[in-house]
Amino acid sequence: MKTEIINENNKNVVKEAVKFITQNELVAIPTETVYGLGGNGLSDEACKKIFEAKNRPSDNPLILHISEVSELDRLVEEVPTKVRRALEYYWPGPLTIILKKSDIIPHTVTCGGDTVAIRMPNKEITRRIIRQSKVPIAAPSANLSGRPSPTTALDVYEDMQGKIPLIVDGGACNVGIESTVLDSTCEPNLILRPGFYSKEDLEIYFGPVEYDKSILKEGEIPKSPGQKYKHYAPSGSMEVILGNRYRVRDFFNQRARELKDKKTALITFEDNGDLANSFYKFYSLGSRDNLLEMASLIFRILRQCDDDGIENILCEGVEEKNLGIGIMNRLKKSCGGNVKII
Ligand code: TXA
Ligand code: MG
Repeated sequence: MKTEIINENNKNVVKEAVKFITQNELVAIPTETVYGLGGNGLSDEACKKIFEAKNRPSDNPLILHISEVSELDRLVEEVPTKVRRALEYYWPGPLTIILKKSDIIPHTVTCGGDTVAIRMPNKEITRRIIRQSKVPIAAPSANLSGRPSPTTALDVYEDMQGKIPLIVDGGACNVGIESTVLDSTCEPNLILRPGFYSKEDLEIYFGPVEYDKSILKEGEIPKSPGQKYKHYAPSGSMEVILGNRYRVRDFFNQRARELKDKKTALITFEDNGDLANSFYKFYSLGSRDNLLEMASLIFRILRQCDDDGIENILCEGVEEKNLGIGIMNRLKKSCGGNVKII
């Protein structure tokens, strides 16, 4: 199958995307977080194609994407008043909500469970595609399972070339890590996957919210199926270093000497830019004071490491608070738990 990339400004893009979605074919769609691998969320046939194209484990349920809060009603058993009010505030945006599912949701979306994950992305072109398709679009991140999530159309092309007919190119994703997943079917509501919205952000409208125990503590079993898999991993071996920035810098210098004959990449903030000469490759996370920038760059950099044939990756970590919790959650998975605190 030939995979076409069409820019979001092309006047035929919505029509083409809607055509494929309606035929139960897959279309990669841009969102503010990462690109999604989209298919008709009410069709078992389309959802099965999503699992096949990604090589996704069959017990990891999909997120349905909608274009208006009102589209929720036919997809779930009920929307509690508090949840509706909260969603009017956080949507469109990088929040996925778990609710009890209605009968029209195919088994393949929920993997047999009685809840469904739903989100309204903050990308106009994608909401237009959903609206005109007249169905929710099921979309996991558009990477092959296990690889870092795609944040550009070319990242998607790398993984999905020949497997899907269309990629809608909406430019680079500005959030860069996937949505916060909030389970609203339990009290207090539980964050199953940390992201752009922190616990403190969500508590404004949802009331008391907790992180699932596995997010801040090693060894706990995650409540969300997707969180238990190895994820986001580059091919090279990776180490994440966390601590006082000067001690971290000394450690980078020491590792530069130990690994000088290897294709080693350093991923750190721009204020360590002078270390670039000591490594095979240097990738900047931007300013230390701007975690939003780090989030938007991290998956692109990890994929670039693969493109550059990197054997060893040293990456500076960040303190686990606010957005730092979401970023560290991705980094810990990328390095298979190989985090050094110094
Ligand atoms: O930002 C995002 O959420 C992106 C973009 C494309 O919207 N999508 C995304 O999808 O990250 P995916 O499939 O890569 O991650 C979905 C996560 C998984 O961890 C999955 O286990 C969880 O949501 N999930 C889906 N349905 C669930 C459910 N009913 N209960 C608990 N967790 C669920
Ligand atoms: Mg994913």
